[in-house]
Amino acid sequence: MNPLNHVAIIMDGNGRWGLKKKNSRNAGHRAGLHSVEKIIKETIKQNIQYLTLFTFSTENWKRPKKEITYLLNLLENFLVDKIEDLHEQNIKLNIIGVKNFSKKLNSILNISEKKTSKNTKLQINLALNYGSKFELLNAFKNLNKNNEKISEKNLKKYLQTKNIPDPEILIRTGNTKRLSNFLLWQIAYTEIFFEKKLWPDFNENDYIKIIKSFKKIKRNFGSI
Ligand code: IPE
Ligand code: IPE
Ligand code: MG
Repeated sequence: MNPLNHVAIIMDGNGRWGLKKKNSRNAGHRAGLHSVEKIIKETIKQNIQYLTLFTFSTENWKRPKKEITYLLNLLENFLVDKIEDLHEQNIKLNIIGVKNFSKKLNSILNISEKKTSKNTKLQINLALNYGSKFELLNAFKNLNKNNEKISEKNLKKYLQTKNIPDPEILIRTGNTKRLSNFLLWQIAYTEIFFEKKLWPDFNENDYIKIIKSFKKIKRNFGSI
């Protein structure tokens, strides 16, 4: 059976779910939080060490200001409400992406990271204002600035995932088959699961099904 250390998820479909059920995209974002909680719980149950959640992309700034404000407030309130609980569950919170939000949100993110930094059960990487192209360009710029040889090993040092193994599984919900600038380097050999369900409808049983089918895949890595 394939070992499994890291699951990455593109949590897509909140807006469509909200529009369909409550005539409001934001209602979908709110509902999506329940799926986040279910999936965190199951990740712990499955003894998986790393969970990376695509929460806000560098391209999501193109959305209407009202939706962005709602999303970021939701995140802020979620952290304020849940950080103690996450900490008690021995969960480490790590942000990948550039923290250029409001002073208040930046500070909540920093405090949450610091508080949970020594935890060991599960590391949750929240991808916030994250874009893979930015991450890679930034890594190349650093190599250049420091006059370092361009090698895989050196490049990895400058990725925001530098101490995290590459994900074995990438899940994208929401019935869309694209990567949307997420972890492009890191998923070179990742098994990808495109899921029809919208994120707020995605539950632990859907997740377990994916994990089970992943475990049976013959992973070649170029070999036979
Ligand atoms: C994903 O859901 C959540 C974020 C991008 C923050 P969407 O908001 O993209 O939902 P759809 O794809 O419009 O339904
Ligand atoms: C990807 O979803 C980003 C997150 C889930 C945070 P989007 O809904 O923004 O992706 P595109 O723009 O439709 O590809
Ligand atoms: Mg979307």
